[in-house]
Amino acid sequence: MEKNFKRTLITTALPYANGPVHIGHLAGVYVPADIYARYLRQRGQDVVMVGGSDEHGVPITIKARAEGVTPQDIVDRYHTIIKDTMEELGISFDVYSRTTSDIHHRTASEFFRRLYDNGQFEQQTSMQPYDEQAGEFLADRYVTGTCPHCGSDRAYGDQCEACGTTLAATELINPRSSLTSAPVTMRETTHWYLPLNRWEDALRKWILEDHKEWKTNVYGQCKSWLDMGLQPRAVSRDLKWGVPVPVEGAEGKVLYVWFDAPIGYISNTKEILPDSWQTYWKDPETRIINFIGKDNIVFHCIVFPAMLMAYGDGFQLPDNVPANEFLNLEGDKISTSRNWAVWLHEYLRDFPGKQDVLRYVLTANAPETKDNDFTWADFQARNNNELVAVLGNFVNRATVLTKKYFDRQVPAPAELQDIDRQLMADVREARTRLEGNLDTFHFREALKDMMEIARLGNKYLQETEPWKVAKTDMERTATILYCALQLCADLSIAMEPFMPFSAARLTAMLGIEPLGWERLGEDNLVPVGTVIAEPELLFEKIDDDAIQAQLDRLARIKEENKIKNWHAEPQAEDVDFDTFMKADLRIGTVLECVKVPKADKLLRFLIDDGLEKRTIVSGIAKYYKPEELVGKQVCFIANLPPRKLKGITSQGMILSAENADGSLVVIGPTAPVVAGAQVK
Ligand code: MF3
Ligand code: ZN
Repeated sequence: MEKNFKRTLITTALPYANGPVHIGHLAGVYVPADIYARYLRQRGQDVVMVGGSDEHGVPITIKARAEGVTPQDIVDRYHTIIKDTMEELGISFDVYSRTTSDIHHRTASEFFRRLYDNGQFEQQTSMQPYDEQAGEFLADRYVTGTCPHCGSDRAYGDQCEACGTTLAATELINPRSSLTSAPVTMRETTHWYLPLNRWEDALRKWILEDHKEWKTNVYGQCKSWLDMGLQPRAVSRDLKWGVPVPVEGAEGKVLYVWFDAPIGYISNTKEILPDSWQTYWKDPETRIINFIGKDNIVFHCIVFPAMLMAYGDGFQLPDNVPANEFLNLEGDKISTSRNWAVWLHEYLRDFPGKQDVLRYVLTANAPETKDNDFTWADFQARNNNELVAVLGNFVNRATVLTKKYFDRQVPAPAELQDIDRQLMADVREARTRLEGNLDTFHFREALKDMMEIARLGNKYLQETEPWKVAKTDMERTATILYCALQLCADLSIAMEPFMPFSAARLTAMLGIEPLGWERLGEDNLVPVGTVIAEPELLFEKIDDDAIQAQLDRLARIKEENKIKNWHAEPQAEDVDFDTFMKADLRIGTVLECVKVPKADKLLRFLIDDGLEKRTIVSGIAKYYKPEELVGKQVCFIANLPPRKLKGITSQGMILSAENADGSLVVIGPTAPVVAGAQVK
């Protein structure tokens, strides 16, 4: 439902302060939100953009325990990194705060209390996992045990990572506490539940009827939740870290992190606008837009709106929730725990001054309608072939020619020709498309519309050839460069939401003040006589070495993960001694070793096993030259039933050790032994 509005409140999902932020955060939430906020500000609209760190929740306490520090230490560390990173990337928050602030604790506490006083909660008693030794209730993540589905003995109380099944802690076999390793018992505890079912009809109407214009991924997810029917949801937890439940007798209980975090949007607005914050939340002429990733949809479209309706008092619901899908990295899901990410603070260190390049690439590849992939090759190509070759090139040609022919002074145009007028008309058309796409959150398309202006510029110079005209007709040359410089100014306006740093450099280079959006496509943006600055390159090529360094880093991480995974792999089931002794392990001496024709992995061995010569085929051809092994002693299993491999009967199996990268090393004795020696 489109409405008339006087102001816009932009909220951005609060990142958890249990790690730094990566390109997925930036592409999914902060760049789109920032593009939108900057665009509206340029249009002279009243905009407030709020953000902050989400500093509660169990993962922060787990990390703190693992490092032997307090949760506050953890969030202090990451809040600082995240805040600085956002600032350096030009994400133009009006406020970036945090949920451990006093104002947030007070706001969240008061919010809960009002719902409590107005009978908006149901109280329910349930059995929850408890660690007798620690004297604490355990969050599901703190419970480990055997998965009832796949038998992995490392399943968590919320999920088994081996088979991916979502679990309840009560389903685990032999549940143990990861705090003390003590067996987990169940204890009764009481919590407050928000009965979402009470709000189901209102939510159905609000989303399914009144907001058909929402993105299909968002609308679709909401519809499937609503169609399943809503249940009461617990909004408190037995935990020490968080906003204490403001009810007598609720010691040791805090608000569930997903209850307090969205209230952070309100606390943060209060923090910067202590007198007028209510206008941004309660005036129907305010428009609220929530920028989030797809995993946050249910909380923003169902739970938080239900909280706001339960609170009443004029709180407005969001007008749009343009959630993005996920960004992958080089074909794999981004993962903090596997360190599979491009961390933004590291990007800023490795590519200083190139904030806009990343903003550009992430917008061009934004996961708006489906998951998308970030690759370093694409990053380099977009920089070199688009930013350098198209945008930078046009600006450079226009300014360098102005320097060459007019000593950096914007020349007065003579009479315009059709091609000049066409250029202006084309820019105005690009502007219309650009606005249409920005207004509807289609930022990838909008970015193309912006680049179209630079392409128009290149085409114009290609067709008018001022460097040739200058030999005979300075008046015409003046007109062409005048028009080209106006186009540079158009670009500086259109670029600003996407690439604010380069836009500012361009305006400075043109010797003008930043222009508002409404000037885009108008005449005389860079007035005749203006002295432009010394031309500089807006973008520079990124060379292969810089890209290779990033790829090498990722390759190293892949290796490390393999080793970690390998160590974390569940141990094989117990084997009793008698069963183990059934394997007849022997040492044999290699008499012959040759490649098996047409099988690039296989080597054929002839082994002296002490009694006779036996043939064994082994899949280690990639790791050895056959002649290297002749005369060596190897360990093999002597009593396996014979197997045919590529037509050869193999009488046993040679044992090898496997490295993390999958390479194999044959096992043998450390000193010569008699052929046929038993291994025990
Ligand atoms: N910290 C959450 C996440 O990273 C997002 C919280 S958004 C808020 O998924 F609305 F709760 F603030
Ligand atoms: Zn499992």
